[in-house]
Amino acid sequence: MMQTAFETAEPGKAASCFTENEAHVWLLDLDLHEALLGELAGLLTDADRRRAAAFAFPHLQAQHVAAHGQMRRILAAYARRPAHALHLCRTPEGKPFLAPDSTPAFNLSHSGGLGLLAITHSAPIGADIEQIRYSPDLTGIAQSAFSCVENAALAQLPKGQRTEAFFACWTRKEAVAKFDGRGLGLDPASFTVPVDPDTPSGAARDIVTLNSATSVRIFDVSVPPGFRGAVAVPPEILKLRFFRLPA
Ligand SMILES: CC(C)(COP(=O)(O)OP(=O)(O)OC[C@H]1O[C@@H](n2cnc3c(N)ncnc32)[C@H](O)[C@@H]1OP(=O)(O)O)[C@@H](O)C(=O)NCCC(=O)NCCS
Repeated sequence: MMQTAFETAEPGKAASCFTENEAHVWLLDLDLHEALLGELAGLLTDADRRRAAAFAFPHLQAQHVAAHGQMRRILAAYARRPAHALHLCRTPEGKPFLAPDSTPAFNLSHSGGLGLLAITHSAPIGADIEQIRYSPDLTGIAQSAFSCVENAALAQLPKGQRTEAFFACWTRKEAVAKFDGRGLGLDPASFTVPVDPDTPSGAARDIVTLNSATSVRIFDVSVPPGFRGAVAVPPEILKLRFFRLPA
């Protein structure tokens, strides 16, 4: 997989060098100490707090606060507004956006203690991070969610590479689905992404046709070992920059 270093930066500094044709991708640590969690909880709205409280387990409640608190902190810098003044809405299919004009555009993903927050000026964007977990049923899941071309490519790989390839394909597809915004309304087998886990990303061959009117460029994100990550953007976005918050 492509090796990408996440640069440690304050959100204001990263936002000050944000250009139109790039996307910024933030890696979020969701397992935070109590003091920082308390600070981030102060940035949340009542609706965010209700969503956090709905999780059955305390560690999932804490991760929700960590994800949404850090997301608000970072988006505030890009929107040049205080975090508490950000008005987040959702489309009928559930994709969050910033009112009133969807700028900056963003997408959030979280899995197993890590989050990805991907941001563009205004272009649609989708992000996905997944913790890699072996399951004896990955082939069955692939058969129901992947296209014929993807399943054939997966079957051709050596057995030892298939779990990594499954998650590479899954995160690329999920990033495209979240770019599109239809969520479960988009048939995942209706489009094809690269399956090879080691394929360089962002290149012309990673431009995927979603339908006759929409093409999407997929970038892999080099997240820590044990995870896979991907971001989907319009083909005009040629560059990604990677950041993480100071500890
Ligand atoms: C929400 C959804 C879009 C992604 O769920 P997920 O992978 O379990 O979770 P992630 O952590 O990656 O993403 C969740 C976040 O995406 C955002 N989101 C929710 N609905 C969204 C949508 N329709 N489009 C884009 N983003 C969406 C939200 O910020 C959400 O986090 P929050 O609820 O804490 O605010 C899911 O409902 C879905 O429809 N997935 C497509 C399923 C599929 O067919 N995948 C096949 C891949 S092969």
